[in-house]
Amino acid sequence: MTERVAILISGGGSNMAALIDSMAEEGHPAEPVLVVSNNPEAGGLEKARDRGVETAVVDHRTFHGDRAAFEDALHERLEEAAPDILCLAGFMRILDEPFVARWDGRMLNIHPSLLPKYPGLDTHGRALRAGDAEAGCTVHEVTSELDGGPILGQARVPVRSDDTPDTLAARVLEKEHILYPRVLRRFAKGEKSPIFCS
Ligand code: GAR
Repeated sequence: MTERVAILISGGGSNMAALIDSMAEEGHPAEPVLVVSNNPEAGGLEKARDRGVETAVVDHRTFHGDRAAFEDALHERLEEAAPDILCLAGFMRILDEPFVARWDGRMLNIHPSLLPKYPGLDTHGRALRAGDAEAGCTVHEVTSELDGGPILGQARVPVRSDDTPDTLAARVLEKEHILYPRVLRRFAKGEKSPIFCS
């Protein structure tokens, strides 16, 4: 049976596009059913439409800081598409416990650091300021702890002496586009043991 996947985005959606493209591969165990953005301007919405995937916007700003109401509306819209798996792909809103509980064991996120290092923002700047020799990205299950759920996969990149946060982010992003599809394919088949690639 094919697993139905919904993807949440806030911006350019390059990870989302990589996920959708990967699901078009022959014999893939999952299919994309909906892309939702909290940001009506998100460039990823057009990328999803170009790929023939239904899109929706649930704009957090219209809820004037009422996070519970925003998350209820988001959940309601998602339920219409009946996804089995929810992928956060550059979704830049923190989700509260009740929402996370509703998707327990079914929600994945990609984060641009080698977790548990650098949860939260400015991951590449923090890695460079710490003098780290390597950086990378992590796909993990989402729990109510920020960027803290069980790790499903990690990819590493060496840090170069002339790296800036932007150059490092660009190299890590290339790895994200490989790692996230690999993890999703496994997860859709029920495989939750972590994979590590360089
Ligand atoms: C990606 O680097 C992703 O790891 C990061 O935002 C970028 C989104 O790019 N996510 C986070 O920082 C989440 N805390 P994309 O919209 O092109 O996929």
